[in-house]
Amino acid sequence: GEYDKGSHEHFMRKEILEQPEAVRRCLRGRLDERFHTVRLGGLEMDAREAREFRRVKILGCGSAYYAGQVGAQFIEELARIPADAEPASEFRYRNPVIEKDTLYVAVSQSGETYDTLVAVQELKRKGGRVIGLVNVVGSSIARECDGGIYLHAGPEVAVASTKALTNMDVAFALLGIHLGRVRDVSPADGRRLLAAMQRLPEQIESIVADEEHLADVATRLAQAPSLFFVGRTRGYPVAREGAQKFKEISYRHAEAYQTSELKHGPLALVGPNLPTVAIVPDDELLERNVGALHEITARSGPLCVVTHDGVDLGVPAKDVITVPKSEPELDPLLLTIPLQILAYHAARTLGHDVDKPRNLAKSVTVE
Ligand code: G6P
Repeated sequence: GEYDKGSHEHFMRKEILEQPEAVRRCLRGRLDERFHTVRLGGLEMDAREAREFRRVKILGCGSAYYAGQVGAQFIEELARIPADAEPASEFRYRNPVIEKDTLYVAVSQSGETYDTLVAVQELKRKGGRVIGLVNVVGSSIARECDGGIYLHAGPEVAVASTKALTNMDVAFALLGIHLGRVRDVSPADGRRLLAAMQRLPEQIESIVADEEHLADVATRLAQAPSLFFVGRTRGYPVAREGAQKFKEISYRHAEAYQTSELKHGPLALVGPNLPTVAIVPDDELLERNVGALHEITARSGPLCVVTHDGVDLGVPAKDVITVPKSEPELDPLLLTIPLQILAYHAARTLGHDVDKPRNLAKSVTVE
């Protein structure tokens, strides 16, 4: 059953492996192949309304906030609406200006995170339009919002979010395509993006099939007291989530930077004892990213590169992890998956309580 580990050593591993099926559930009934768009009945928003938003503001905590950063990029790229994410825990305390043509999006696995719930209530009180990207049906946040997108990831037990987080990314991609198709995204582009969405479950299957290799890399990374995770533009929220996951369960210090910022400070720390996990998608920034990687290897920094199948890096990286190519806009989704598996195996090899890391709770429902 869903609340039973079965033959798995940990819920986290079970939930990592469930992702292809979870993504299928999130997509089911939502891809409209006739109009090359996405149907989101739960949004309760007609096309005219969907065209009027001039900004999107995403609120969530922890991993949901990082998913929100990925989501903001999806929406900005796909629908060309300025979008950003902010921790709900900060937003609720700073007396934010509520704009009537902003679409607010609350993201939460549990639907019970207190900071996110209070942010939604404050928004509602001031007349803001808030939709929810929530996993638990009928939860407090889902009930407070004016419609939304259920994640359909199924119950998630491990504190470190995997399948719910992936489905947050999927739901944001669906929202981005939906908002894009009532604006400037062409039917041809809609078709291209829909096809990419349909490939995701199989592509995730091929990533998790690489577990043995990832476990081997993780065992080595786990020896370091401190690590960098770097990425830029689309890769940056991926790096942030990767560092968060790694520190949450392995208790190693992991810090995320934009690859482009390395030379403005953090490079001072790079050397034989500080490994860097670099997210390097096969996109228009590939050459620049590779340039930054040379800066790391020139200082004998151990390097683990997460990139796409078929990329010739030309850098002496100790470890190379590849994922299948999606459409460029959607790349962050798949690039995140190996980082979950790295964190899992690092924590496991260090003998930590993977499913219940110290000091953390699955959902924080109090102030
Ligand atoms: C807690 C968990 C995090 C999670 C965050 C948001 O802090 O430890 O793993 O990302 O809450 O949870 P939510 O249920 O709102 O997604």
